[in-house]
Amino acid sequence: MSLATQRLDSFLAKHCGISKRNVRLMLAQKRVLVDGQLAANIEQQVNKFSLIALDEEVIQNNPAYYVMLHKPVGGVCATKDDKHSTVIDLLPYDFKEQLHIVGRLDLNTSGLVLLTNDSRWSEAITQPSQKIEKTYQVTLQNPIDESYIKAFAEGMYFGYENVTTLPAKLRILDTHVAEVKLREGKYHQIKRMFGRFRNPVIALHRSQIGDLVLNTELSSGQSRLLTDSEVCLFTK
Ligand code: URA
Repeated sequence: MSLATQRLDSFLAKHCGISKRNVRLMLAQKRVLVDGQLAANIEQQVNKFSLIALDEEVIQNNPAYYVMLHKPVGGVCATKDDKHSTVIDLLPYDFKEQLHIVGRLDLNTSGLVLLTNDSRWSEAITQPSQKIEKTYQVTLQNPIDESYIKAFAEGMYFGYENVTTLPAKLRILDTHVAEVKLREGKYHQIKRMFGRFRNPVIALHRSQIGDLVLNTELSSGQSRLLTDSEVCLFTK
């Protein structure tokens, strides 16, 4: 679902019901602003988030929204669910129905979930080729030891998908607690990796996606809008 772009002259011709020749004239007369800048090039690419004004009147204004949520255990990463409250239900924003989820967490996993209406931004985070690192804190039923570090770093073969997991970093934080950093997101990946040691995961929490850290002051179920600099962490 990539963000569709079109030429400025196509957008204006369609929007105003005029010929592209007349659009050229409008630009020459300095009547069009795109994102606050005077438009001079008919070939300029615009998308649904471009702020476009003609003769000082806004003719397109669709803001992009970027949200960080502290997902609670028991919240489902879906837009609709009959049994559980969804991450969308938890949001207080009137634009929440426009949002989609950027990388899901399991029902019993807590932590950082991102939501947006900007599909180009979400793709920059979720596309496997991007290999964005996600950081998790994992609490286990049984003690862990150094052998886990090597096994996670070497990767594990998942027969169902016929793939070997990418090297993952595991740091032992306590006898039963580890930090794990993954650059991919296979189905139940962390639980399955600890499953190889027959060591059930008791609690799983995502604290970070790339360089974006879940605010510790954001309690379970709370959310906030990202700052511009946080949004830019995932745009090149
Ligand atoms: N690994 C899991 O097993 N579950 C998650 O929610 C995320 C990673």
